[in-house]
Amino acid sequence: MLAMPIMMGMDIFMGTAEIRFIIKQLGGRNAPLLQVLLAVQDAAPQRYLSEEAVNEIARLLEISRCRVYSTASFYSEISLEPRGIHLIRVCTNAPCENAGKQEIQEAIERELGITVGQTTTDGLFTLESVNCLGACFMSPAIKVDDTLYGNLTTESVVSVLDSFRKEQCHGCK
Ligand code: FES
Repeated sequence: MLAMPIMMGMDIFMGTAEIRFIIKQLGGRNAPLLQVLLAVQDAAPQRYLSEEAVNEIARLLEISRCRVYSTASFYSEISLEPRGIHLIRVCTNAPCENAGKQEIQEAIERELGITVGQTTTDGLFTLESVNCLGACFMSPAIKVDDTLYGNLTTESVVSVLDSFRKEQCHGCK
């Protein structure tokens, strides 16, 4: 990930200067589109590509907005909607499916009161599905932000969610 100052938790548009910086770091006008999209998304406060960001990327790379949108829409890793502070990805590939992924997903959905593709009303979690996390040896697996959790049970996955809630609430009282 590129080293860039980011303002966590604020729903603001990433400025042209930040996007230009990312594109320059990735090779300028010929930078690979997918890498640009992922880097801009990673640096955005709510880890998504806003309409303004899409427009800037298209302008700076001198390609059509349509191409930017179609690439962004193709990859499940890229979101065109604001995400929560923590991104939960549930693996839906066969090894995890066979190891009880459905129960894990339902436990998360019950605990958070959302379904796949949604964000909790407090903006803390977004739940998404992904094809494989590269952690098939510890199915069923999920990823929260950059951390993998495997061999999950319906109880242990709730503990994982609790640990993120506690971390967020650290110093609340
Ligand atoms: S199948 Fe689930 S991590 Fe690969």
